[in-house]
Amino acid sequence: MTTPALSVRNLRVSVGSGESEVEILRGVDFDVRRGEILGIAGESGSGKTMAMRAVLGLLPHGARATGSAVLDGRDLVGLSQSELRTIRGRHIGMVFQDPTTSLHPMLRIGRQLTDHMRKHLGLRRAEAERRALDLLDDVRLPDPEQAMGRYPHQFSGGMRQRIAIAAALACNPTLIVADEPTTALDVTVQAGVLALLRRLCDEHGTSIVMITHDLGVLSELCDRVSVFYSGSVIESGSTRDVMDHARHPYTRALLDALPDQGLDDLRPMVPIAGTAPSAADRPAGCAFHPRCRFATVPCQTDPPGPRATGPDGAEPHTFSCTVDPFELRSVVR
Ligand SMILES: Nc1ncnc2c1ncn2[C@@H]1O[C@H](COP(=O)(O)OP(=O)(O)O)[C@@H](O)[C@H]1O
Ligand code: SF4
Ligand SMILES: [Mg+2]
Repeated sequence: MTTPALSVRNLRVSVGSGESEVEILRGVDFDVRRGEILGIAGESGSGKTMAMRAVLGLLPHGARATGSAVLDGRDLVGLSQSELRTIRGRHIGMVFQDPTTSLHPMLRIGRQLTDHMRKHLGLRRAEAERRALDLLDDVRLPDPEQAMGRYPHQFSGGMRQRIAIAAALACNPTLIVADEPTTALDVTVQAGVLALLRRLCDEHGTSIVMITHDLGVLSELCDRVSVFYSGSVIESGSTRDVMDHARHPYTRALLDALPDQGLDDLRPMVPIAGTAPSAADRPAGCAFHPRCRFATVPCQTDPPGPRATGPDGAEPHTFSCTVDPFELRSVVR
């Protein structure tokens, strides 16, 4: 198997020091393979954004990362800010929930795209302009020629997100990190942007990390998924496996909370009881135990390690829970 585009191991992020030190990420592992879309899912506050900020070297002031995040053979954890700036511009593209975050409001679209390529790829103006037009065409922006001369505010939210995706693709990066890129868009526009990401991934072989709290988006788009809970990955595997045979009670609870279960599965929507703990007052043992309907006494003290499920030789499917998966399956279904 070829080496993954990005391999993250034992990634930890903490803030504060001494008695007030808080561990936000608690040793996270995941791989993003070449040309695949990895979904990172979980409720708000579970550490999805922080994980990618650690990889990108964009941690908030006072936060520290340890562990490794190897992109194309190079560990990004511990690189200097100037090295990370080059990596972010050239090897990793970023797309955020709000496209205005990645686009400069006062610069014309053409200038934003061409400046980026001239700086990182050393292209001459005419070459960069040609490539910018191709990129805008590639993300299906109507009339790329005219769009080059316009400002971000002259486009709708969906079109701005397409432009942000074009900017992320400009230097042909190994990886695109998309953090809730469709959350602010309405459903029909969202479907178009998701289809665009899928096509770009397939046609360009770009790897994508898709951060989302929306399991619907995840099931539609992602090849594999890592589910986060309170700073840890609690389940990971192929999207189909995780959706169809979720092993962790938290993943099952997320799936049960989905409003649209399809016509062949008309279970009522069951919201997850309680709220996710903050990193500062995370419960001992399994962090999910106060909300878990399967919790036993040991869950209050013993943090469960990851275990594998599924047939040998199949895509690895791991989950961190002490409950017997078959037992869980028969109780829930
Ligand atoms: N700037 C910050 N300083 C300290 N803690 C933060 C900061 N930003 C986020 N956090 C904490 O880190 C945890 C994970 O946040 P985040 O990664 O943004 O979650 P998600 O993206 O999954 O919604 C939360 O508990 C949040 O309170
Ligand atoms: S380890 Fe215990 S509390 Fe945690 S998810 Fe499994 S059964 Fe629930
Ligand atoms: Mg987030």
